[in-house]
Order: sequence, then C-alpha cells, then structure tokens
Amino acid sequence: MDIQSTETKDLEKQVAAREAVKFIKNNDIVGLGTGSTAYFAIVEIAELVRNGLKIKGVPTSEHTAALATSLGIELLDMNEVNTIDVTIDGADEFDEQLNLIKGGGGALFREKIVASLTKKEIIIADAAKKVEKLGAFRVPVEVVPLALNYVLQELSKLNGVGTVRMKGNVPFISDNHNYIVDTDFGLIENAAFLSGSLNQIDGVLAHGLFVNLTSIVIMGKGSETVTYAKH
Ligand code: 5RP
Repeated sequence: MDIQSTETKDLEKQVAAREAVKFIKNNDIVGLGTGSTAYFAIVEIAELVRNGLKIKGVPTSEHTAALATSLGIELLDMNEVNTIDVTIDGADEFDEQLNLIKGGGGALFREKIVASLTKKEIIIADAAKKVEKLGAFRVPVEVVPLALNYVLQELSKLNGVGTVRMKGNVPFISDNHNYIVDTDFGLIENAAFLSGSLNQIDGVLAHGLFVNLTSIVIMGKGSETVTYAKH
C-alpha cells in the first residue's frame, strides 16, 4: 500500500467519524468501537467531551478502554447498561444490505454484544470497505481454545478453511482469552444463513458476520461522505 492511499483512507475514516459523532446527544450512552477507524471517532468524541458534552462510553475492547480513559471519556462496563443509545464502530467489509464482516482487530465478541445492546449502530468506513458480496476478507471466528480441533472440522463442513490467527510465533489471544480463526468461505451468498450455521457450533464464542445489527454506514469518499441506510 502506498503512502498516498493510506493518507486517503485516513482522510475518509476521519470525515466519516466527524459525520457519525453528530448523532450523539447529551447524556447518551455511547458504544466505542475498536480499530483504526473507530479511533478517529473516539478522538472526536473526546473533543466534544472536553467542550462540555456529557456522555458515558461503553468500550468494545481493552485497547479502546485504555484509549478512551486516556482521553478523558468516562466509561461504563457493558453489564452496567441495559441499552446503548448509539455506537460508532468500524468494519472490515460492508455490503449494501448493511451486513458486515468485523473482527480484523479481534474484538468481534464484545463488538457484537455492544451492537446487540445498541439502538443506533453506526458503522464508519473508508471507501475500500464497500463490497458487492462479503467474503474477500476472511471471517474471524472466536474459538474457545480447547475446542479448536472440533471447530476447525465443523468449519470445513461449511466449506470454510480456517487458520488460527498468529501474533509472531504464538497464537493471537483475544481479550476474552480465546483464539481467533480467520476463515475463508469464498464469497458469501447468504450471510444470514452462514451466520446462523456458525452460531450452532459449540466452541464458537462469536463470529465476525454482523447481520441485521447496523442502522447506518457512513463511508468516507475522498473528503465527502456517503451514507447507506437500511432499506
Ligand atoms: C475490530 C474490528 C474493526 O472495526 C475492523 O477490523 C476494522 O478495523 P479498521 O478500522 O482498523 O480497518 O472489527 O475487531
């Protein structure tokens, strides 16, 4: 990836984040996403808080919790809330039905619980994240380590080729102390069906297919934004 395209992506992430934070109101409980795009939203929210906005954040990862705390955002644990007003998070891929692949950063489980608690789930993305069909990005699957071999076999019955995510020479360990299995299903014809099938596998804590959880996607395109809503 050249420097110019990284700069363009960062601009697109930033303009999308600026647009997304406009949905936050005083006294809202706000889900805070994880990843390089969500980072821009957290920085924008911190700026609003410095200027007097009163919100409480619910982080989707340890990394986001540390970042938000360092920027002065007050946090709540997800067990302390019954609903979240608005969440701003990123995605690895999205389609026009607003289905997503998430979990490139390994935070998919907490991201999914936060999304499920959220009234308005806003996904922000650079333009490269939009796809016709999900699946070029491998679906992250969070697996309880002792069930790894079983889960890999079950994934292959669904025509998925799973690879344990590594960090250097050792498996990447999620915030919940599990493995992430990046799984290639090819292009996904029916995300809802695959999502349901993955939910049936014992040993799978969560997977990165997010179906019917998103309210809007705000995509940066150069210095402009394009908004995709449910239809
Ligand atoms: C982390 C995620 C991220 O939202 C996703 O990986 C996108 O990351 P980035 O904004 O860095 O491209 O799901 O688990």
